[in-house]
Amino acid sequence: MILVTGGTGYLGSHAAVALATAGRELVIVDNLCNSSASVIGRLKRLCACDVQFIQGDVRDTALLSEIFLGHDISAVMHFAGLKAVGESTEMPVDYFDNNVNGTIQLLVAMRRAKIKTLVFSSSATVYGDPATLPITEDCPFAPTSPYGRSKVFIEEILADLHRAEPDWRIARLRYFNPVGAHESGLIGEDPAGIPNNLMPYVAQVALGSRNAVNVFGTDYPTRDGTGVRDYIHVMDLAEGHVAALDHLEQAGGLLTVNLGTGQGHSVLEVVKAFERASNRPIPCLAAPRRKGDVAQYWADPSLANTLLHWQAGRNLQQMCADTWRWQLNMADTS
Ligand code: NAD
Ligand code: UD1
Repeated sequence: MILVTGGTGYLGSHAAVALATAGRELVIVDNLCNSSASVIGRLKRLCACDVQFIQGDVRDTALLSEIFLGHDISAVMHFAGLKAVGESTEMPVDYFDNNVNGTIQLLVAMRRAKIKTLVFSSSATVYGDPATLPITEDCPFAPTSPYGRSKVFIEEILADLHRAEPDWRIARLRYFNPVGAHESGLIGEDPAGIPNNLMPYVAQVALGSRNAVNVFGTDYPTRDGTGVRDYIHVMDLAEGHVAALDHLEQAGGLLTVNLGTGQGHSVLEVVKAFERASNRPIPCLAAPRRKGDVAQYWADPSLANTLLHWQAGRNLQQMCADTWRWQLNMADTS
């Protein structure tokens, strides 16, 4: 059985579906600080199996120890954490407490229970503004926010742990820009308030709940002047986690892998693809560059391809179509 921390959140819920599809049993722990327990009912429908849910905080080592005692858990996928870059600059201590301390408490409980297999949610944000493209895993750390530094600190703690106790099996997965939703339209990303990220904002403009997309920067040295990112479908990302877990179980070790498509798309390309998917016009307004943004980056995903035998298969059009289906479903049910 796999423990999924943060399993009612955006990425964790999709990983839960991928795990269940691969025949794995799972239990979810989440404190619901950025998600809702209603996801569990939808997961049960999608997984066609029982999905156990425990509401709690990963910083609560006693609770985690109890979970490990009461379930036959062989590995942990650790998604729980805070993730808003801007917010992290205003509340750095909360970010280090939740992300770094949360991971330490999880590791303490895992050591006690002798569970030594962990898949950890890292981010391409650990690379900062990369000197060369595409980004390979040996590019140096250069985080530019407390959020990014929390991921670097955790990655280093995991490397130290593995050095000290080489029988641990650890994957540090560096995600590029996860977008999209499960193709059923039953689960997806539901950001509170004004979306920080491009895809959910574009979806809300298509729906008519926001007027226009503010394009942050139209004078970048890119093919159309707007920022370029490596968007990856959330189900490809979820399947990458199952592949990483399979690899760890067979080969062990400390794995550090980019999860991206290897292809960059500009803001305007995303807007155009979403117009096609939704069949609605999406007005855009040129806006100043957003502080802290870089012009462009995309992954070199070849390590994941060769080591994990995993490749992102869903294209930008599918990312937009699945986001749109989810957005329409949410609008229907709200
Ligand atoms: P999310 O906010 O949707 O999900 C995180 C979940 O963790 C939420 O359900 C939240 O309630 C829960 N949580 C937070 N702190 C907790 C705690 N202390 N104890 C228990 N539960 C807690 O975020 P997401 O997009 O699914 O991201 C999941 C992970 O992936 C995070 O670690 C994030 O930093 C990382 N990541 C996300 C992205 C992205 O674009 N979404 C990119 C790179 C890395
Ligand atoms: C952001 C985070 C990154 C995180 C990722 C998750 C920052 C600096 N980085 O990345 O750590 O892993 O989200 O997906 O916050 N854009 C607009 N208008 C908008 C929103 C975005 O033009 O309303 C542009 C941005 O300038 C950027 C691109 O769209 O060029 C993508 O932005 P976003 O979705 O926020 O992702 P990142 O900034 O790449």
